[in-house]
Amino acid sequence: MRLTWILALLLCSAWTCTIVAAIEPISTSLAVGIAAAVTGFLARYQNILYYFQECCRPEWITYNRTALEVDLQAKLFGQHVATRVILKAVSGFMNNENPKKPLVLSLHGWTGTGKNFVSQLIAESIYRKGMSSGFVHLFTATAHFPHEMHLESYKTQLQQWIKGNVTNCPRSMFIFDEMDKMHPGLIDSIKPYLDYYETLDGVSYRQAIFIFLSNAGGENIVQVALDFWTAGRDREEIELKHLETALSLSVFNNKNSGFWHTSLIDKNLVDYFVPFLPLEYKHVVQCGMAEMHAKGRTPDMDVVDQMARDMSFFPKEERVFARQGCKVISSRLDFYI
Ligand SMILES: *[C@@H]1O[C@H](CO)[C@@H](O)[C@H](O)[C@H]1NC(C)=O
Ligand SMILES: *[C@@H]1O[C@H](CO)[C@@H](O)[C@H](O)[C@H]1NC(C)=O
Repeated sequence: MRLTWILALLLCSAWTCTIVAAIEPISTSLAVGIAAAVTGFLARYQNILYYFQECCRPEWITYNRTALEVDLQAKLFGQHVATRVILKAVSGFMNNENPKKPLVLSLHGWTGTGKNFVSQLIAESIYRKGMSSGFVHLFTATAHFPHEMHLESYKTQLQQWIKGNVTNCPRSMFIFDEMDKMHPGLIDSIKPYLDYYETLDGVSYRQAIFIFLSNAGGENIVQVALDFWTAGRDREEIELKHLETALSLSVFNNKNSGFWHTSLIDKNLVDYFVPFLPLEYKHVVQCGMAEMHAKGRTPDMDVVDQMARDMSFFPKEERVFARQGCKVISSRLDFYI
């Protein structure tokens, strides 16, 4: 009777993992009274549950470097610098059994260059459920923390969320979109979690991943890309070192960047600044072709070319870089097909 009750509870509850963990001692004591066969069944049953219900276990959370590499190569266009940095950063961190701090990435570039998309690819390479995993948390400044007058309650809430979620699963991922619109005080409030502490209030944050997305520094990145183009140099020659200085200085000095007077940078809490280059015509075409394929159509160069030519590019005369990125292409294409 009691066993049936427990099994029913297991089946019904959305918190299966927690409950399975909680009844572990009970199932041991049951084993004393009930035949060993039942325990065996229960053990197997647990595994079945782990199989269907997302848990903080390797069945659900395992990093696949190949998957990330293949995805970055095949689905992200025109971002050779970001691709390299991301792969190195994530692989290095995930393969390190004793990281000294959580992984903190700061992704910079204009909208539509692929920052959100890359966060999604990273999530998919680690969590079986990707972005819909219960261990991946996305915060958007304007949606989650819109009113400055509520700053104090946002701070408390955010700290509780991070602490609660990391307590549930150390391998949690937090993505902060629109960092440039986030109140500096709010960023300061999460700083302790990014630091080198072994534990804070008994919780270790060293397995967690924090990803910040912002447009800050976007203009400087465009300038570097434009300088290369003007000098007739190959875009592929652009390396991280060409962008690093411009990026960190601009992020630092720009009051609107969201990093303003936070000590994220001077304390070296950000492990990698990842620049996203503005897209050129050929990248827009690549996006378009991939998008047609994704829509289940035969990629048609004429259609994609037509769409790409109607998009707006800058500088006005030279028309080198697309104003919008791959994000808008999906809906645009419908119009041309
Ligand atoms: C890792 O990803 C690659 C490419 O998507 C896939 O072929 C492979 O089966 C994956 N490995 C594991 C262990 O899931
Ligand atoms: C985890 O974060 C989410 C927000 O993404 C929040 O709603 C939830 O309450 C947090 N969980 C805990 C246990 O704090």
